[in-house]
Amino acid sequence: MQTLITDSALTAAERIRSGKLAAFPTETVYGLGADALDDDAVQRVFEVKGRPFDNPLIVHLAAAAAIESVARVEQDFVRSLVEAFIPGPLTLVLKRTSLVSDAVTAGLDTVAVRVPDHAIAQRFLAACGGPVAAPSANKSGRPSPTTWEAVREDFDGEIDCILRGPRSTIGLESTVVDCTSERPVLLREGAVTVGQLRQVVDLAATDSVAQMEEAAVGVSRTARSPGLRHRHYAPRAQVVFADELEIEPDVTASYIGLREPEHGSSFVLVRVCRNVEEYGYELYQFFRDSDALGVVKIYCERPARTGLGSTIIDRIARASR
Ligand code: TXA
Ligand code: MG
Repeated sequence: MQTLITDSALTAAERIRSGKLAAFPTETVYGLGADALDDDAVQRVFEVKGRPFDNPLIVHLAAAAAIESVARVEQDFVRSLVEAFIPGPLTLVLKRTSLVSDAVTAGLDTVAVRVPDHAIAQRFLAACGGPVAAPSANKSGRPSPTTWEAVREDFDGEIDCILRGPRSTIGLESTVVDCTSERPVLLREGAVTVGQLRQVVDLAATDSVAQMEEAAVGVSRTARSPGLRHRHYAPRAQVVFADELEIEPDVTASYIGLREPEHGSSFVLVRVCRNVEEYGYELYQFFRDSDALGVVKIYCERPARTGLGSTIIDRIARASR
């Protein structure tokens, strides 16, 4: 199959409408889209990704007004979340209606919904004319793609189309919040920080973020968020926190962090970021660049566990398993 690279949201949407797979840009990472009402198309997303069938997909919508076409909003706090963060990098898990394909939700009675804060994504989704199921557009277990080239690296010849857009401005996936209980429960840390959520809603006392890191597969959260069961975000190289191993001068290693590393000149690749936003923006692309250079070990500085730093720690911890 020839993978079409297009700048036209309408062309990409046309492919979705005819049952094909099209990758598209969002502000977090690129998604691999399929018509959420089409069982076969959704099935194919799992197949090409190599994704376990028990790990449900997020349904993407052009606007918040469409949420109630696929889900039931039962809790008042959902409106506060929608008002504060949607469109944006927040995914809500809600009770589902029967509209979307069962394959999307992996048989759960809930559905995850997200409205990207991204002009091209919104134009594409509007033109699709209905809900679009999309995981991050990477092979299962690989780092999420923040550029269209990274999508091509994983899927060239295997998907119908890539809607070309700019590099994702955030670079980390959306935050996932379960909204089916009396209080919202954080299922996946992400681009919206815990502090930002707490300004708007009364988050249930889940595992502390520290526990979440230790037990990236805690029992209760695993039941609610199947995605956490599986290895994620990993490059081929071994990922280590720079503070766990003394950094040795190493000509087969790379380094990313907020401070200059010791022995900086001996690394294959070094990226020093100005702040955690830039660290999040660079992380997955740095993993891919390191792989392309044949790096064996990637040292990652552990940022402070506040704000986006906590999400970055989560992703590095998962990649290092
Ligand atoms: O930023 C993002 O969220 C990107 C862009 C493309 O929107 N998408 C993304 O999708 O990261 P994916 O498939 O890589 O991650 C979706 C996460 C998984 O952890 C999955 O288990 C969880 O959302 N999820 C999906 N549906 C769910 C549901 N009904 N209940 C609980 N968790 C769900
Ligand atoms: Mg993913």
